[in-house]
Amino acid sequence: MRLTQVVFTGIVLSVCVAILLSAPPEKADPVAGKAIFQEKCAECHNADNKETKDGPGFAGVKNGKLPSGRPATHDVILDLVTKGQESMPAFKELLSEQQREDVVAYVMTL
Ligand code: HEC
Repeated sequence: MRLTQVVFTGIVLSVCVAILLSAPPEKADPVAGKAIFQEKCAECHNADNKETKDGPGFAGVKNGKLPSGRPATHDVILDLVTKGQESMPAFKELLSEQQREDVVAYVMTL
């Protein structure tokens, strides 16, 4: 192999490794999110109907709207879970980033 080929192959390989290393963090897992929801959210939120407990029930969120009418997007829900609102606690310190991502993914399936 000529030197230029060796160098070229080396560059291609390092680019591939760089892409692999910069891959996004582990994907959100709605199944793990369900367990977190039951432990942390279910005391205040119903998952399978719209009835209000302490907070609103989430049935129908997958259709795109939260009970309040706000868009049920990943960013909106993650922001709420992270910062809390009114009598809902902030979960920034109570759940890891991965756990918050998981629970958001689960809520979006309801
Ligand atoms: C102590 C009770 C409590 C707990 C625990 C709680 N929430 Fe809430 N949540 C509320 C209340 C009350 C509201 C309504 C706040 C308002 O009216 O501004 C709310 C609102 C929300 C909303 C917005 C609903 C809308 O229609 O805009 C989302 C999304 C939400 N909670 C998700 C969660 C998730 C996910 C968890 C678990 C990680 C959780 N909540 C835990 C009480 C709680």
